[in-house]
Amino acid sequence: MAERTKLLLATRNENKVREIKRILADVPVDLVSLADFPDVPPVEEDGATFEENAVKKALHVWQHTGLASIADDSGLEVDALDGAPGVISARFAGEPVSYEANNEKLLKMLDGVPEEDRKAKFVCVAVLVSCKGKMVLQRGELKGLITDRPRGAGGFGYDPVFYLPRQKKTVAELDAEIKNEISHRAHAFTAIKPFLRLLAPSPKA
Ligand code: IMP
Repeated sequence: MAERTKLLLATRNENKVREIKRILADVPVDLVSLADFPDVPPVEEDGATFEENAVKKALHVWQHTGLASIADDSGLEVDALDGAPGVISARFAGEPVSYEANNEKLLKMLDGVPEEDRKAKFVCVAVLVSCKGKMVLQRGELKGLITDRPRGAGGFGYDPVFYLPRQKKTVAELDAEIKNEISHRAHAFTAIKPFLRLLAPSPKA
């Protein structure tokens, strides 16, 4: 049987791992995550852009393991807030990190803003580093509107306050399957797939 490449997903976020595993289900790689590599130290996400952070994360885990590695950096950009929360989406309302507190802060900041000015987008930048250190970067986006209150129980993060006019649902009200077809993460990782298929089996696989 042909040897499969081991691909390390540079995240400890179980929500992301679940989504990315589904998106990459048809690619012949063995996907492992940082949960399997507890000795890899955390990396500071201090870049000014999603691109900088994703490159930093992917290189960091590749340098520590020698495995082909893939990282994503993602977040929410709201037009009326000049692109905030952007790269600080995860810790928008400060520590300890809480999805509910982030959503509450966002809704408060947009209090009174009319629907036509509540445009936002989810952004995901995915970076692949081959075991030889070659890098590919792809960006995906999903456009929508910020609601005035949370709705739905699926997904994670800002999903309950991110409304898709076409589907007439928040992302948290969507089937997981549908989210995985249209999301910013789906767009970025689908664009990475042709490069994943070119990966040679990793020497440490
Ligand atoms: P990262 O781990 O630095 O990429 O942080 C991403 C943060 O952006 C998450 O903690 C969420 O708050 C937000 N985010 C990214 N992708 C999504 C998504 O698909 N749905 C909702 N929120 C998301």
